[in-house]
Amino acid sequence: MKRLLALAAAALLTVSASAGSPGDPGAGDPYFPGQGNGGYDAGHYDLALDYNPGSNALNGVATISARTTQELTRFNLDLVDTLKVRSVTVDGAAASFSQQGTELVVTPAAALAAGAGFTTVVSYGGRPTHVLDPDGSRDGWIRTSDGVFNANEPQGAMTWYPGNHHMTDKATYRFAVTVPSTRVAVANGDLTSRNTGGDRTTYVWDAREPMASYLTTVSIGKFILTDTKVGNFRTIVAVDPKLAKDATTLAQRHGPVLDYFSSLFGPYPFSSTGAIVDHEPNVGYALETQTRPIYPVVPSESLLAHELAHQWFGDSVTPSRWQEIWLNEGFATYAEWLWQDKIGQRTLQASADGAYARPETDEFWQTPTADPGGPAALFHDPVYDRGALTLHALRGMVGDTAFFTILRTWATDHKYGNADTAAFIELSERVAGRDLSGFFDAWLFKPGKPAL
Ligand code: TRP
Ligand code: ZN
Repeated sequence: MKRLLALAAAALLTVSASAGSPGDPGAGDPYFPGQGNGGYDAGHYDLALDYNPGSNALNGVATISARTTQELTRFNLDLVDTLKVRSVTVDGAAASFSQQGTELVVTPAAALAAGAGFTTVVSYGGRPTHVLDPDGSRDGWIRTSDGVFNANEPQGAMTWYPGNHHMTDKATYRFAVTVPSTRVAVANGDLTSRNTGGDRTTYVWDAREPMASYLTTVSIGKFILTDTKVGNFRTIVAVDPKLAKDATTLAQRHGPVLDYFSSLFGPYPFSSTGAIVDHEPNVGYALETQTRPIYPVVPSESLLAHELAHQWFGDSVTPSRWQEIWLNEGFATYAEWLWQDKIGQRTLQASADGAYARPETDEFWQTPTADPGGPAALFHDPVYDRGALTLHALRGMVGDTAFFTILRTWATDHKYGNADTAAFIELSERVAGRDLSGFFDAWLFKPGKPAL
């Protein structure tokens, strides 16, 4: 009897366990609740894309390797429904699916065990378009006269491939992009092959270091492509012919900036570097796409320094929620000030004084840096300049040696990972050997103008 009961209980357990449950439709980000998904962790994306700039027709096959974090009956990927999914397989078996707004809901033929690796293949296509961000800027698949300017912060990745599109799920990538041979397709990482068949060419790019999906790019145009070694770094630069005459020294200009930042922040974290300079004057921003930032103009020294500093702060070490974006922008802005000081363009003191001089009544001082209030304020001055001033004030407080130890330790401890403001405060206090809660409260969390 006893024995029988135990057996029945075991059977019950098996039944309820094998039922599993659906993965969450979001990653729980307060600013972008629909971004990302729960129940699994993506490890690698293999994106085979075919694009015709003339008709804006995109066809894609996305092969996504992932691991479940729970027993999973169903899971979501993020993809806009202007792109139509033709088929989905999971581990080679046809899966059922539906598209609901920006969610692609996949039901595998059988539930997936907890902790199991699985491979999803999504075939899809359509005419991609950009999205409008809460602040009114364009993001995603932004068409140009000869191709696409592809910048995906904070939500553009879902406009061109299915994925777990929240910054906390990093993965490696391979892009195989087929375009008319009159065009060039540029992505992150290393160019590993280029094959022409008929009038079409396939470019294969391998991004071997983990990357958040908002940092991916596949940009297409009539680029002039150069692939050179600048100092220690493979430097791949793509420039729109309209901008070529101002970009002749661009590849070379990367060397001194990367050397300087390596001396301050620790080794450059990626296998290659470079730039995509696309003639798209209406975009209005540059983006620190991993290994290869994208610019709508030939970058000035300060813009180049800003985007390259992001490779350490933003790309290798990534925040865990959008409201913590000062960990990207404050750091990149401070690095920009350091570089301008280094080359004699403007002293660090002048940059800091200029930012600090704003009147206390200004929105600048009334907005908390570490939570600027919502997704429309992600890229505003309280995040950039007040974030940079926070670091400048921290340096004054703890001294140069402790300050640069903090920055280097931050870059080392969280390499290829995610980290939040609480972790930065904890690290600063540990290195400085003192309580800094009052200091960070005033600079990061409260409205008002702190004393310098
Ligand atoms: N992160 C970019 C930078 O500072 C800026 C950026 C990305 C941006 N997306 C944006 C600015 C949308 C305004 C609007 O390098
Ligand atoms: Zn930035």
